[in-house]
Formats: sequence, structure tokens, C-alpha cells
Amino acid sequence: MARKEKYITSGIKIGLPASLEFAEGPFMKDVDGNVYLDFTSGIGVHNCGHRPAAMVKACQDQLDKFIHICFMVSPYESYIKLAEELSKICPGKLTKSIFLNSGSEAVENAVKIARAYTKKKWIMSYRTAFHGRTFLDISLTGKEKPYREGFGPLVPYIQHVEYAYCYRCPLCLEYPSCGIACADTIRTVMETKPLEGDVCCLVGEPVQGEGGFINPPPGYWEKIRKICDDNNALLIDDEVQTGFGRTGKMFAIQHWKCDPDMLITGKGLSLGMPLGGVTGRDDVMSAPGPASLGGTFGGNPVCCAGAIESIKLTKKALPNTKMINKVETKRLSDWKERYEVVGDVRGLGAMMGMELVKTKKGKEPVPELTRSIQLNCFKHGLYILTAGTYGNVIRLHPPLIIKQNLLEKGLDILESALKKEAKKAGL
Ligand SMILES: Cc1ncc(COP(=O)(O)O)c(C=O)c1O
Repeated sequence: MARKEKYITSGIKIGLPASLEFAEGPFMKDVDGNVYLDFTSGIGVHNCGHRPAAMVKACQDQLDKFIHICFMVSPYESYIKLAEELSKICPGKLTKSIFLNSGSEAVENAVKIARAYTKKKWIMSYRTAFHGRTFLDISLTGKEKPYREGFGPLVPYIQHVEYAYCYRCPLCLEYPSCGIACADTIRTVMETKPLEGDVCCLVGEPVQGEGGFINPPPGYWEKIRKICDDNNALLIDDEVQTGFGRTGKMFAIQHWKCDPDMLITGKGLSLGMPLGGVTGRDDVMSAPGPASLGGTFGGNPVCCAGAIESIKLTKKALPNTKMINKVETKRLSDWKERYEVVGDVRGLGAMMGMELVKTKKGKEPVPELTRSIQLNCFKHGLYILTAGTYGNVIRLHPPLIIKQNLLEKGLDILESALKKEAKKAGL
């Protein structure tokens, strides 16, 4: 850690003070020999656990052939095969892909393609969204601190709108009597000056990840789809965190009857090998001019080979999300009944979280308590993540392959931390 301080930029903050030495399945071991149950999955990446053997082998086989050539220099099988596989599992008519190095870069490319296709200017995104770390991505992301502060001026022609954050409804309404009025406000923004007639795309996470595991109500994305259609704006579905089985379906948007125009992938796409992708409608993906997109390493052959195997493994792991959801829903809902600080429990599939507050009535966020629970879990062998606009959400990202007894064990550690730390804080 001292050497980290000396040699690594202060812009990188370490969440928990253990240095990883080895990881396998749902476990991590640090350099001091401590073993942890991993409910972070490397921020929603290791959906099939650390280093699944078939995926490691697929990467090794490719390493034995060639590591890099650049797809623009010479096309190769794993890139094209991966695009073929994605066209089979993506919703709607998304058939053409490009691969990049990360989720962030994939978001950049999706928006470039949307601009090329629509020839329009404005980009819409959500105030509580997270879309990555490049200049465009932090401009799309709404949260000022820590993502945007000090980095301006940011990218122009971006309009933020409110998400369907029902627990803290921006319109102070309640579902279903609200009639999903928050979506109507998006229509208003899209159809009035200065955006009117000039909206290129709306970028959204089907379930917000960093924003605090916020899942919109039934009917939401259908309504947004119609608003985009009525305004000839593209709907870009950022599935970097939600994709590849995390929410119990291959892609989270499949919980709604809504086909996006482009779908962005990353994280679980390649279970740990750095890779991002954009898969879109043929006409949309055919809009950019020759040589207008690309990159030296994007769609690296080893990463693509790993991703092809990852998709197979993810399909096998998917049914287990039912058990994860059942166990987590039961335990977390029970905590909501019993503990004043558990304000909201939400999520889909294996992407569940709870929002912590001082009182249920006042909903005052308690980020310090959330952090102390995270540290307490760490001391007892469980790695978990926090999230949320107010930093007061505990989010659970266990690997989809986790066995019930280990899941329960992790939740026992979390409950004990919750009880002890809330008591310590006098809550
Ligand atoms: C929804 C979403 N989009 C984009 C990104 C950026 O991906 P990456 O960190 O691979 O650049 C993330 C990362 O957490 C994300 O959650």
C-alpha cells in the first residue's frame, strides 16, 4: 500500500485494503493468505467466478496462435465469431458489432455511430447514470463528485433527465398511480427547444448500476422506446454492468418489451479479459464512413476468444440466478422489516441491493454507515461494494455460479455487520 501511494496516481482510490494474490471461483486470497468470499465479482465482471477453466483454456489456445495483429490490419476468426454469437443473443434486430478495449470506449463509439446515423446533435442521458471515465462518458454521467469535478469543460450538447428512481421519485409520486410520469417529462424535454427535432440518442442503463441498483417499473422502457421512436432518436442500451445474465436474463432490457437500436457490452462479456462492444441494427452500424472507427487493440484476439467461451459459460450459469434472487429477496426483505436503516431493497436477478437510511420515514442517506458495514464485512471475509448517488447503497454482485450455502454464508456476514455497525452508529 505504501508503494501504491508512492507510484500510483492519487486519482485511483482503493476500496478495501487487501492486495490480491490469487482468485478462483467465488474466492479471493490476498498476499497475507487471507481468503475472502467475493460478492464484487471485480465490479460485475466475473459472472462465472474467477478464472473458469474453459475460458482460461480458450485464451491460452489463442495465445498459442497469435496475440495481436489489429483487426484493421488483418481480420481474424475470434472477432467475427464473437460478433456472430452476439447477433444470436442480443434482443431485436441487432446484428452488427464493433469491439473496443472497455465499456467506456464502447459508449464513446455507440454515440459516434448514433451521430453518424441521425446527423443530429443532442445526446440525452440520466442524471443518476454512470457510463465510464472518458470525457464523453463523464459528461453523460451526472454525478459531479468524484467523476466530473475538476475536469471541465465537458462535452457539449448533453441533456440530463431524471431516471425512474421510484424510492426517491423525482416527481414525488408513487407507482403505479403515477402512470410513469417521469417518462412523460423526458418526452417534454425531447420535444421542446432547444432539443426539439435535434435529439440524436438517449443513452440509458436498463437498471442503473453505480447509481445504486435502480430498476425502473414495468412499462418504463416500453414508454421510452415510443418516445424515442416518435422523435427519430436512437435508444442506446448500456448493458456494461447489467449484461450477461446479471439480472437473470442475458440482457436486462429483455425484462421489458423494448428493443434498443444499439446495445453496449463490457465487463461480463469476456469475464475479465478487457473488452467492450457495440452491437446494433444493420442500418445504424452501417452509417459510419470507412476507417472512421477502430483502434489498435480493440477486439484483441485473446479477449474475443475468451468472450466466445464466456457466452457459453454464462448460458449455463443463468438458471442459478433464480436461486440467488430468491435467497437474496427473502433475506433482504426480512432485514427491511426488522432494521430501521434498511430503507429500500431492490434489483433484478443477481443484481440486488439495499439503500441505507437514518430513518425509514425521513430517508436520510447514511454513506458513513454504508462504508463501515463494507469494512466490517471485509474484516469477516466478505468483499462487497457500495454505490448510489449518495453512496448509501450496498450492492451485491455475487458470481452467478455461487452455491446456496456460500451465498447464505456471505449474507450472514453482511447481516451481522449491518446489525453491529447500525448499533454502533446509534441507529
Ligand atoms: C453502465 C456502465 N457503463 C460503462 C462503464 C464503463 O466501463 P469500463 O469501466 O469498462 O470502461 C461502466 C463501468 O462500471 C458501467 O457500469
